[in-house]
Amino acid sequence: MADTVKLVWDDKTYELPVIVGSEGEKAIDISRLRQDTGFITMDPGFANTGSCKSAITFMDGEKGILRYRGYPIEQLAEHSSFREVAYLLINGELPTRKQITRFSVLLNDHSLIHEDMRHFFGNFPRQSHPMGILSSMVNALKSFYPYLADTEEEIDIIVTRLISKVRTLAAMSYKISRGHTVIYPRPDLSYCENFLNMMFDSPVRPYEIDPDVVHALSVFLILHGDHEQNCSTSAVRLVGSGRVNLYAAISAGIAALWGPLHGGANQAVIEMLGRIDRKEMTINEAVERAKDKNDPFRLMGFGHRVYKTYDPRTKIIKQVCDRLLTKLNINDSLLDIAQTLEDIAVNDEYFISHNLYPNIDFYSGIVLRAIGIPTSMFTVMFAIGRLPGWIAQWKESMEDPEWKLNRPRQIFTGPQIRDYVPIEKRTVKV
Ligand code: ACO
Repeated sequence: MADTVKLVWDDKTYELPVIVGSEGEKAIDISRLRQDTGFITMDPGFANTGSCKSAITFMDGEKGILRYRGYPIEQLAEHSSFREVAYLLINGELPTRKQITRFSVLLNDHSLIHEDMRHFFGNFPRQSHPMGILSSMVNALKSFYPYLADTEEEIDIIVTRLISKVRTLAAMSYKISRGHTVIYPRPDLSYCENFLNMMFDSPVRPYEIDPDVVHALSVFLILHGDHEQNCSTSAVRLVGSGRVNLYAAISAGIAALWGPLHGGANQAVIEMLGRIDRKEMTINEAVERAKDKNDPFRLMGFGHRVYKTYDPRTKIIKQVCDRLLTKLNINDSLLDIAQTLEDIAVNDEYFISHNLYPNIDFYSGIVLRAIGIPTSMFTVMFAIGRLPGWIAQWKESMEDPEWKLNRPRQIFTGPQIRDYVPIEKRTVKV
């Protein structure tokens, strides 16, 4: 393969270097394009723009492949735990016994929240969305834990502190929003067990930890661990590129994840299925509305910027969903609606020709409902899962010698230079 691409303009030829990744992905290096030719590139939505080189996650949207640090998502979901996957994403290798023990000790040591932070929760209006609260609280961590690290060991502590405290903050915000007693983390419980216990234990009704629920939660979090340069991860990298602290960069990622076209889709799917269940629309109406160009309605949980085939995570979460509902003996009408909707959509010409398949969010909400997580907390659950990925990407960008302040360009389409008009001489253009 040639190692340059030729760009011909006005009888001049420019040679642009080709970059090839370890899985054969190709890119044209345009970093000198403006300097050498005066051109910038235009790519709204960045669908064809590589913003960095990364060794963390590989995905192939045409073949439906997802790997973290080379390990297929299917193997990680089957054999690993969320704690181990978090370690893998951040450090690049699966941990040894000694390494995972140290990681677990750090997670336990840093699981408590500064007591003064609890007062914040009480001051958010009752109906505040938990994603807004989480984003604010993570940003506030910098004020409570101002010391940021330089050495590798200190970075380990900050990273584990964040992973551990986000879980505590999420459970605490739920308990406080319901006016319930806050439950503190316990050192004898694993990461997922602790989260479930903090969410659902109560002084009058002890929570019984079910290993199948723990497994379902662990797989849910693993599947959300990282997804290369998606909207929220790009937000973390972009905000982080100004050399802001880790907490502020992650807070930006949480805000980006909140949107219904991104992480908020899991909540939007359940709301859509709920509308069908309450007979506010039929399944066929939902499908027809999604196909209508004059209707902004979309089938939530369908389609993906990169996957143009079945999302590999959807197969896994669907299996987890079936197993969990059977084990807990739950008959969720939303699952029946989801399955019928999927059957109709994947056989419909519009969805086939647009390469629209169910994404992970289509079934993940049903798993979360079965666990007992309220719908308003769904995107928070996604954020807990995505946190190791955000941290890994932030760390990689900080260590990258080629890394620069992120600052895209634009093509200006506004008015050309004109003279200031005093207010008494201004007229309204109709
Ligand atoms: N329902 C109906 N039509 C859709 C859908 C959908 N869910 N998704 C895309 N389309 C159609 C668009 O109308 C468009 O049609 P056209 O070419 O005839 O005009 C075409 O497919 C391409 O759509 P784009 O929005 O340009 O595709 P993009 O890659 O930008 O969108 C996205 C990806 C945002 C995920 C989109 O599929 C969507 O809105 N899905 C619903 C929300 C959702 O489930 N989001 C979760 C994504 S996964 C995640 O972030 C965890």
